[in-house]
Amino acid sequence: METKIFQSDQINQAAALLRQGELVAFPTETVYGLGANALLPESVKQVFTVKGRPSDNPLIVHVADFSMTAEFVESYHPLTEKIVKHFWPGPLTLIFKIKEGSLNPVVTGGLSTAAFRMPDNKKTLSLIEKTDAPLVGPSANTSGRPSPTTALHVYHDLKGKIAGILDDGATQIGVESTVLDLSGEVPTILRPGAVTQEALEEILGIEVPLDKHLVKESETPKAPGMKYKHYSPDTPVLMINSDDWEKALIWAEANDKKVGLLVTPKIADKYSSADRFVFADETVEAATRGLFSGLRALDEAKKVDIIFAEVFPEDHLGLAYMNRLKKAAAQNYFSEM
Ligand code: TXA
Ligand code: MG
Repeated sequence: METKIFQSDQINQAAALLRQGELVAFPTETVYGLGANALLPESVKQVFTVKGRPSDNPLIVHVADFSMTAEFVESYHPLTEKIVKHFWPGPLTLIFKIKEGSLNPVVTGGLSTAAFRMPDNKKTLSLIEKTDAPLVGPSANTSGRPSPTTALHVYHDLKGKIAGILDDGATQIGVESTVLDLSGEVPTILRPGAVTQEALEEILGIEVPLDKHLVKESETPKAPGMKYKHYSPDTPVLMINSDDWEKALIWAEANDKKVGLLVTPKIADKYSSADRFVFADETVEAATRGLFSGLRALDEAKKVDIIFAEVFPEDHLGLAYMNRLKKAAAQNYFSEM
């Protein structure tokens, strides 16, 4: 199958394909999603096949506005209105209890809850409206690869397997949305993202806990997708604490390992000899935007034996950055190897 790249004046064509049951990848502010009409179970099944995704991992239902959720949701948490007012459209996925039978089990993994999100991307909101149905949308990568932040990343992983990609350049945030469980009494963060724990607590005026597995590694995550080893390039990744750069590079040289750096400009200037992907500036926002893109670039160049990545404090957006980096690095830090 030919995979067409659609520009913004071709949203009608992309929507027509989705209505016919084809798969079309779409841009969001976080990462690109692999779109299928959420009301066509056969199309949704294709999403799992194309990605190589485990079928017990439920999908996010992307809507064009909050009112689109009403058809499916059984009961809303009392804080829903406040949350939606502040954070939608945006990088926040909400889990609600759903009406029995309102969504096919292939979407929900057979759970009595489902995930909903209104992405902050005008083209994709228009695509959903023109399709006249909500769209499921896992990240549009082959399962286990870093999530795609450009149309080209999607093309690299899925060309020939999907009907099209709606192109809107590079995504602004770079990692997937925060997943907030609103199906119980206490709103709980199942996956950290750009809507941070601190921001939620400030707006809601209550403590918003993290799911147990985000605090203690031995616990089982509540979001099924969080249990899989994700985001990993083929090249091994090591996280480097700020005091360890010198030692780590000496170790690499002694062991004849060619190193690729995934770092802020400051570190890149200091160790100028290695292959590198340099974030746009020193901020955690820039690092988060560049994380998956950098992992892909260093991996695909096939020039390095190991990737050394910079760490950030695990608060605010740093919690999301480190959550994804730790998975890519299989939790491994450099420590006097
Ligand atoms: O930013 C994003 O969220 C991107 C863009 C494309 O919107 N999408 C995305 O989808 O990251 P995906 O499928 O890769 O991640 C969905 C996450 C998974 O960890 C899944 O297990 C969890 O949400 N999830 C979905 N439904 C759930 C439910 N009913 N209960 C708990 N977790 C759920
Ligand atoms: Mg994903």
